[in-house]
Amino acid sequence: MARTLGQAGLHQAHKAKKDEFYTQLCDIERELVHYEHHFAGKVVLCNCDDIAVSNFARYFTANFARLGLKRLLCTCYSPTGHGSYGCFDGTTLVRIELTGSGDFRSPECQEILAQADIVVTNPPFSLFRPYLAQLIDYGKHFLCISNINAITYKEVFSLIAHNQVWLGINLGRGISGFIVPSDYPLYGLETKVNELGQRIVATNNCMWLTNLDHTARHDFLPLTQRYQGHEDSYPNYDNCPAINVNRTKDIPCDYSGLMGVPITFLHKFNPAQFEVVRFRKGDDGKDLKIAGKPTYFRILIRPRSAQSQTA
Ligand SMILES: C[S@@+](CC[C@H](N)C(=O)[O-])C[C@H]1O[C@@H](n2cnc3c(N)ncnc32)[C@H](O)[C@@H]1O
Repeated sequence: MARTLGQAGLHQAHKAKKDEFYTQLCDIERELVHYEHHFAGKVVLCNCDDIAVSNFARYFTANFARLGLKRLLCTCYSPTGHGSYGCFDGTTLVRIELTGSGDFRSPECQEILAQADIVVTNPPFSLFRPYLAQLIDYGKHFLCISNINAITYKEVFSLIAHNQVWLGINLGRGISGFIVPSDYPLYGLETKVNELGQRIVATNNCMWLTNLDHTARHDFLPLTQRYQGHEDSYPNYDNCPAINVNRTKDIPCDYSGLMGVPITFLHKFNPAQFEVVRFRKGDDGKDLKIAGKPTYFRILIRPRSAQSQTA
């Protein structure tokens, strides 16, 4: 008997469609170049990827010897049938059917995850919370694409604030676009067709998230503005003893207290320069306000030491 999708089913189907964004090789190369020294002797897992199709698999097989990889593993999801497992050891590529669907949470995929040193992929955005939670539970190193909004998830923000996870190098327009299936609804999206005839959607709302060190997160943000003499440009919040800073580049060099900054600050966050204290809320647990009006999402930060700031 034919089955109709209820509201919840339709919502799920819509969400699943949103997950079908495939990563371009150029975007993988542009990010991975900053982490190459991490990969020697390592087993890499791409666990939302078909080893025969994925550009992540293509990148790691093409660069296998140069990076000094030990093994590349891939698991791929098939919602209605059997997923696939792929393995490349530098010479032989094996691709076999999994017993189950290849859901990254399934016991067989978790067994494969346990063998990996570094997980690199673009996972389904709709499952990002459980996806990241599993990587953290397994204590894995990882480099993943996610929606920038993920910063606002309580669990993700807490990991960032505790320096267990940080932003990668590229975000927003730094990720040039994703390949979408030919039936993907393109209404209202910025699109083009590439030289291979693939439909590319430019999203401007994605970032790389990682716990692999990169040099940019040790760069000190040059602070060129002053608070003293410009107090009016840095109003206080009603519900928190902190000043509001509208743009990361306006963070003053001579203020040692709490400051509310835009979430994009995290792209410039050097944990030796600043401490991330809280997200969005004042001391009363309500959204930060100035003169009774809520501000845009803000992250509360504090400089580590006044001496370390540039003048
Ligand atoms: C954003 S796409 C990216 C695909 C590929 N990693 C890439 O970057 O080109 C996310 C992929 O995860 C797959 N997926 C959805 N649910 C999954 C699950 N529960 N376990 C594993 N993969 C899943 C989707 O079918 C989709 O192919």
